[in-house]
Amino acid sequence: MPVNLKINGKPVTVDVAPDTPLLWVLRDTLDLKGSKFGCGVGQCGACTVHRNGAAVRSCQLRISTLEGADIRTIEGLSPDGTHALQKAWEELDVPQCGYCQAGQIMSAAALLERNANPTDTDIDNAMNGNICRCATYIRIRAAIKRAGEIKRAAGAVPASSAKPASNPGDGAFDGTAGRPRSLFDAAR
Ligand code: FES
Ligand code: FES
Repeated sequence: MPVNLKINGKPVTVDVAPDTPLLWVLRDTLDLKGSKFGCGVGQCGACTVHRNGAAVRSCQLRISTLEGADIRTIEGLSPDGTHALQKAWEELDVPQCGYCQAGQIMSAAALLERNANPTDTDIDNAMNGNICRCATYIRIRAAIKRAGEIKRAAGAVPASSAKPASNPGDGAFDGTAGRPRSLFDAAR
């Protein structure tokens, strides 16, 4: 079934089984390996990408539902690795094993797009469900705040005190209603 969508700003047509998850299409069909397979059931956030600007779990999105969608992956975050989050992640040496980090950064990027001056609570709400087995939560939170500083200093995004809704990816996949609250809470 051919599906036309945009991946990292480029029009793409993929012809795969309609129920193929977006994550499979990204990794196996388009060779974009930055988005990771963690749990496959919408519980870990390793596969997080943006759909029309919102953070979503690509393992839970059937390709047949994505006709015309605008998808951004970690590979499309910036052309040269200089997104404010990428700078902050390097500056604070955030990753440990690194497996979860693309998903963490994509959730954080969606947050900073709507709020470049997030509070701890804003970060907890936005990052809820992005699990890090290496427990890098404290550095992740610090790096998100640092990235906000970088963005505000560059004048790219006005600081906002608006409280974001819960992770906009939450409604995009099944099986999340009973999951634990953010482990970021425990890392304060
Ligand atoms: S792989 Fe865990 S949420 Fe998608
Ligand atoms: S850095 Fe290892 S799982 Fe997050």
